[in-house]
Amino acid sequence: MNGIMQPLISYLNIEILLQRVAKTNDVVSGGNNENNDVGALTFMVFPPLQLLESKGYPRISSKTKMKGYTWNGTTMLIKILCFEMKMTEGSSSSATVDKKGESGFSSSSTAEEVTNGIDGSRLTAIVTGATGGIGAETARVLALRGVHVVMAVRNTEMCRKVKENILTETPDAKVDIMELDLSSQASVRDFATRYRSSGLPLHILINNAGVLAPKFTLSKDKTELHFATNHLGHFLLTNLLLETMKITCHEQKTEGKIINVSSEAHRLVLNPTFSDQINDKSSYNHIYAYGLSKLANILHAKELSRLLKEEGVDYITTNSLHPGVIVTDLFRNCSILSVIFNSVLKCVAKDVSQGAATTCYLALNPKVKGVSGEYFCDSNLVKPSSKAADPKLAKELWEFSLTLTTSK
Ligand SMILES: NC(=O)c1ccc[n+]([C@@H]2O[C@H](COP(=O)([O-])OP(=O)(O)OC[C@H]3O[C@@H](n4cnc5c(N)ncnc54)[C@H](OP(=O)(O)O)[C@@H]3O)[C@@H](O)[C@H]2O)c1
Repeated sequence: MNGIMQPLISYLNIEILLQRVAKTNDVVSGGNNENNDVGALTFMVFPPLQLLESKGYPRISSKTKMKGYTWNGTTMLIKILCFEMKMTEGSSSSATVDKKGESGFSSSSTAEEVTNGIDGSRLTAIVTGATGGIGAETARVLALRGVHVVMAVRNTEMCRKVKENILTETPDAKVDIMELDLSSQASVRDFATRYRSSGLPLHILINNAGVLAPKFTLSKDKTELHFATNHLGHFLLTNLLLETMKITCHEQKTEGKIINVSSEAHRLVLNPTFSDQINDKSSYNHIYAYGLSKLANILHAKELSRLLKEEGVDYITTNSLHPGVIVTDLFRNCSILSVIFNSVLKCVAKDVSQGAATTCYLALNPKVKGVSGEYFCDSNLVKPSSKAADPKLAKELWEFSLTLTTSK
């Protein structure tokens, strides 16, 4: 289906879907309902709304913006998305706006483009969640640039296929698979022990793995699953491997990089607290829980950056990023989000090669040398929400995460 037909049909699909949801709930409350479809829509709609505004799309009045949480705001965004499709009608890949930022790259830049001509052959990187989606593409492009990539995954069998594909494309690629289940602290500790005893150096740690699970679930360590997997597992992993990275980078006089893959969904969390409240089933909402874990990714990178600077370790940087909206398996458990993705958003989403760009940019591009504690999108610096920039909250998260990961 070419030209305007596919976007048009997608638009009609989404309108029907939205109208159905509107009948059941007129205001997006972000409330505490496990099956809050409208909350799910907000998750998809609100962050892109802000992004589109930041890219110079017709400004939305403050009154309407306040209604980022209302049905009107949702409808408006869909119309803006259609506007975006129209702008890029006829383009062969994803329909994104090619407005270059300071880095010289844009939302349509691919991971290969942002690392073009860079030699990573002296570097070793760990990429978590490399069995598919953004993680697999990140591993592929880093390996293409000569980086020794260790894919840290819970499903090693599935990852073999990813490794085979990388080796088919780049026969001399250095790629390893190591088992890691981020939702289990025992598994994280076991991984770190095995990694350290392997004697491998560590220059780049990419905390990419993530879940979006609708049902309330506790991890093996009795922590809510989004928080346990997306934040806590990576927090512990980073702490356990930090010494290895320090030794590597100090000895080799290279810059170490810790990169957290977060999301614009962090903006959905307006009044965060990091306490045992995260494990309260009765107030659980999966969109909020996902957003909170993504907010934690940004705060974690910021606080670690601050601590490293305080310690005088200026050769390790830590940053976080939003990869864009990409059609991956992330939404497999959320029927309504899958519907949205398979209709209108598929036309405007990035493809996976663009989705891995900001991660690869932060990992290899010399333009970010010395930049630490920042948040990126489309390979450019972006301001996160005020909560994500709050040093007090970052400290609170750090203390809470230490409590949850100490002596388990
Ligand atoms: N796609 C988007 O539009 C989007 C937008 C914003 C942010 N992000 C972020 O981007 C990152 C990558 O997501 P994606 O879109 O590429 O999704 P994806 O295709 O579902 O990939 C997620 C990866 O995380 C792994 N994972 C999940 N739970 C794990 C655990 N307990 N231990 C180890 N690995 C685990 C998955 O492994 P299995 O194969 O074993 O499940 C998979 O490899 C996530 O952090 C996500 O929050 C994505």
